[in-house]
Amino acid sequence: DLPARVRIHEVGARDGLQNEKGTVPTEVKAEFIRRLADAGLTTIEATSFVHPKWVPQLADAEQLFPLVSDLPVALPVLVPNERGLDRALVLGARQVAVFASATESFAKANLNRTVDEALAMFEPVVTRAKAADVRVRGYLSMCFGDPWEGAVPIHQVVRVCKSLLDMGCDELSLGDTIGVATPGHVQDLLAELTEEGVPTRAIGVHFHDTYGQALANTLAALQHGVTTVDASAGGLGGCPYARSATGNLATEDLVWMLQGLGIDTGVDLARLTATSVWMAERLGRPSPSRTVRALSHK
Ligand code: HMG
Ligand code: MG
Repeated sequence: DLPARVRIHEVGARDGLQNEKGTVPTEVKAEFIRRLADAGLTTIEATSFVHPKWVPQLADAEQLFPLVSDLPVALPVLVPNERGLDRALVLGARQVAVFASATESFAKANLNRTVDEALAMFEPVVTRAKAADVRVRGYLSMCFGDPWEGAVPIHQVVRVCKSLLDMGCDELSLGDTIGVATPGHVQDLLAELTEEGVPTRAIGVHFHDTYGQALANTLAALQHGVTTVDASAGGLGGCPYARSATGNLATEDLVWMLQGLGIDTGVDLARLTATSVWMAERLGRPSPSRTVRALSHK
C-alpha cells in the first residue's frame, strides 16, 4: 500500500546552493525560497549555521533568515553544534537539523570529528532545542555507500539512527549522499530499522540521483510506509565534502511520479518548474531535472 500523502522536505536552498561554485546573492536566495513556498512546498530548508569557512556559500545565514522568516512554512536550518544552535535560536528558528555520519571517513571530512565525537557534539544541541520546543531532524549521511569506505553495513547505520532518536531527534533523514543505493538495499535497511523498533513515521529519505536510482529508491521507501521525502528543486546540489556526490533527487521528478500515483503533495508542478527555470537562469546553466526539461521545452 502506498501513502495517500507525502511531505516533501525541500532542500534546494541549502543542499543545492551549498554545492554551487559561486555564491548566490542573498536576495536571490530569499526570492528562491519565496517562490518555493508559493509553489506549495511546506518544508523548505533555508540555510546552515555552520562555520563560514567550511561552507562559504551559506555564510550569509544571518542576513538570509530574517528575509524569509515571515513565510507561513517550516524553515529548518542546519546546526552542527551549540554555536550554530545559538545563531539559529536568536533569529527565531523553529526547526533545526543536526547531521551525523554512518561512516568515520565522512564524519571526519564533514565535521572534523569521529562518528561518536559528532554524536556527543549533537547531544546538547538536541537537548536544548527540545527544551525550547524546537523540532529536531537528525540527518544521517552515507547510509548506503561511502566514497572512501565502499558499501556501508546496515548495522552501522542502525546504530547511529538509534543514537539520534535516543537523544531526542523527532525525525531522521537517511542520506544516500553519493547516490549509490538501489531499491533492494533501501528495503533491507528500512526492514532492519523497523525490526529494531524505529517507527516509520520518524523516517525520511534523502536520495541522490548519481546512478539514476533516486525515484526507484523513493518508491521502495513509500512501499515501506515512509511519507517524508527530501528533494531539491531542479535537482540542485550534492555535497562539498563528498567527492562523488552529484545532484539530489529533483523535486519536479518526485512530484511527477507522485502525481501519477495519485499521491497528494500540495505542490503546483508548473509553478515549481518555473521557479527552477528561473533559478537555472540565475546560475547560468540548465536544470539537470528531466521533468523540468520536459515541461519547459518549447
Ligand atoms: P572545527 O574546525 O572542528 O571547529 O569544525 P571547532 O569546534 O574546533 O571551532 C573552531 C572555530 O570555529 C571556533 O572559532 C568556533 O567558534 C567556530 P575560534 O574560537 O577559532 O574563533 N565555530 C563556528 N562558527 C560559526 N558557526 C558555527 C561554528 N562552530 C564553530 N556553527 C564544525 C567543526 C562542525 C564547526 C565544522 O566542521 C563545520 O562547520 N562543518 C559543517 C560542514 C557542512 O555544513 N557540511 C554540509 C552539510 S552535511 C550534508 O550536506 C549532507 C546532507 O545533505 C545529507 C546527505 O546528503 O548525506 C545533510
Ligand atoms: Mg544531500
